[in-house]
Amino acid sequence: MEFNPPERLFELEESATLKASEKANSMIASGIKVYKLDVGEPDFKTPKKIIDAAYTAMNNGMTHYAPSIGVMQFREAIASMYNVKPENVIATPGSKQGIFYALFSILNPGDEVVIINPAWPSYKQIVKLVGGVPREVNANEQFVPDINGIENVIGNKTKAILVNSPNNPTGAVYSKSTIKAIAEIAHDHNLWVISDEIYNRMVYDVEYVSFLDVMGIEDGLILVNGFSKAYAMTGWRLGYTITLKDVVKQMAKIQGHTATSPATFAQIAAVTAINECEDDVKTMVSEFGRRRSKIISALNQKGVRFTIPSGAFYFFIDLGKYISRGVDPASYLLENAHVSTTSGEAFGDKYSTFVRISYATSNETIENGFGKIFETLKV
Ligand SMILES: Cc1ncc(COP(=O)(O)O)c(C=O)c1O
Repeated sequence: MEFNPPERLFELEESATLKASEKANSMIASGIKVYKLDVGEPDFKTPKKIIDAAYTAMNNGMTHYAPSIGVMQFREAIASMYNVKPENVIATPGSKQGIFYALFSILNPGDEVVIINPAWPSYKQIVKLVGGVPREVNANEQFVPDINGIENVIGNKTKAILVNSPNNPTGAVYSKSTIKAIAEIAHDHNLWVISDEIYNRMVYDVEYVSFLDVMGIEDGLILVNGFSKAYAMTGWRLGYTITLKDVVKQMAKIQGHTATSPATFAQIAAVTAINECEDDVKTMVSEFGRRRSKIISALNQKGVRFTIPSGAFYFFIDLGKYISRGVDPASYLLENAHVSTTSGEAFGDKYSTFVRISYATSNETIENGFGKIFETLKV
């Protein structure tokens, strides 16, 4: 059978972050020692209490279909965490799927979504997948959204602004005034705010402000989060979206005809995560914090210029000074230092001289990986 992909997939790009990681994995498979600083997931095990709770739930028969909106117990736990009503919560198989359902629910074909670069590559692809048009705008040099820049790209087809704080790839945590300013623009132009708060537990030295602190669901907030990062549960595929009841209903309809729901026992186990695993989260976040401090010291000692990340588990560094023009720094580092990072270009056209470096990996990998990078770049 000859396969010709449908037109709507012509512009859909592969996940750049997964592609980079795959290249490194194939080098590893051929026997080369590669230091992987590309990973976007915690290197910790899922806390045992959560695994035990899933096991118990399975033994108790939680192995059947769940309602497409999610298990009530799960939605109640999320609702009480955010002080909202369960009717405003839907369970999704990962926060990524939540973003997809939400955009599918609110966009007409051709509607635009403002994306602030550097941005997680999937945003642009999901917007395109549902027939929307990404309107990209660059953040400033410190990776803070440029409020005037956002206002300038808003047109009569614009429907939403997508925001991600703490940010992947920059680690930027937006201040209250920035969050407020974005909420105000959205209000003035009658736009939805889709706030991806997946890294909200990984914040160091600064105050974290959620969009729910400055606006209400009724003002057009679509808050997306999940269990992947905070609880080291990437493989469980569990997330949630908090928004207007009517949007939740549309999202549940889409989910009902596609995934049906996230795994039933995963939702039950997540209630244990919320209620009993705060210490585990704190332990993991403290360890991320220690790694972050060590990297900051090492970069400062070497005189490397970078913007200090206040959250998530990434550094986004411009290597333009060290690598010839036109050479992709991530490919250069993989080939010459055997260190796998993610190319900055994946996060926006302007960032082709940058790399994203993840410290969600062992101290040994971090020390050796940075050692190799410094040696190769002659820093
Ligand atoms: C900014 C951002 N949002 C969402 C996700 C996806 O998370 P989930 O595993 O909940 O789908 C990621 C994963 O890397 C991410 O970096």
